[in-house]
Amino acid sequence: MGVAVIPSAALDRSRLLARHRWHPLWIAVAAAVLSLPLSVNAAERAKELLAKTLALAANANAGGQAFARNCAGCHGDKAWGVGDASIPALAGQRERYLLTQLIDFAELNRDAVEMHRASAALGIAPEQQWRNIAAYLARLPMNPRPQKGDGKSLDNGSGIYRDSCASCHREDGMGDDSVAAPALAGQHYSYVLMQIRGMASGHRFTNVDFDLALMLDNMSAADMAAVADYISRLSAMPTAAQLLP
Ligand code: HEC
Ligand code: HEC
Repeated sequence: MGVAVIPSAALDRSRLLARHRWHPLWIAVAAAVLSLPLSVNAAERAKELLAKTLALAANANAGGQAFARNCAGCHGDKAWGVGDASIPALAGQRERYLLTQLIDFAELNRDAVEMHRASAALGIAPEQQWRNIAAYLARLPMNPRPQKGDGKSLDNGSGIYRDSCASCHREDGMGDDSVAAPALAGQHYSYVLMQIRGMASGHRFTNVDFDLALMLDNMSAADMAAVADYISRLSAMPTAAQLLP
């Protein structure tokens, strides 16, 4: 999505980033520019796979069985994740977002050796299983008690969230498919913090453009922790998918 804007945005901001010339974000940008045809191909292929998967009919029951077999061992029986191990909650996450991430792991667009193995275990034509599992997970109730931070900077955290995050992730933290933004409500503090840091260093590139990565990278460690703590306390409300029969 944002790949095409990288060169001009990089020029505009060269002064800003000059203070840390070999910063990981710079290296990621340089790598993205050098491998531009490759990342455009990767994004195109991911888009095609998403369209192909969404065209299949979903079977949430079969998805539940596949989840119990292949995923619950790490993500938990209720898909509420494990805060201490930075394993994300998946229950109640947006269906479309779940699919984009399963595709990104399978295509090696997103790092995480555990998920590369789990993807490979689904076999050579996993589209139907992705469709079923995502349909199952999106309808599960969110984790009502995710792992939280120390609660000492919630005023700061809520200010940052409203000013810089809510436009995409929504005030209530339920996310927005039109900008590919996941729900953050019900998610564990340590996992949220780890992903903010990861996205700030260019680690997730298919749906995170340069401006967003730069905004996250310019946050102090204290601000990142404060906003992650606030996010971990957004109340987990039922999603539209859960209200369907
Ligand atoms: C060996 C443990 C393990 C297994 C098995 C596993 N996962 Fe994961 N999963 C993880 C970890 C760890 C992460 C966080 C990856 C990271 O660091 O970005 C993750 C991340 C994810 C994410 C991204 C969530 C988000 O909010 O972005 C999805 C979706 C997911 N897993 C779905 C599944 C599904 C579906 C299965 C079964 C087919 C599965 N996982 C099996 C460990 C596992
Ligand atoms: C311009 C829209 C936009 C804004 C503003 C934005 N995000 Fe996001 N965010 C996204 C998108 C898109 C993704 C999904 C990235 C992907 O698919 O890999 C995401 C993913 C995330 C994730 C990963 C969640 C998961 O389950 O893995 C976290 C955490 C996050 N954002 C936190 C924040 C915080 C904190 C702010 C404010 C400081 C913020 N975001 C501002 C669009 C946005």
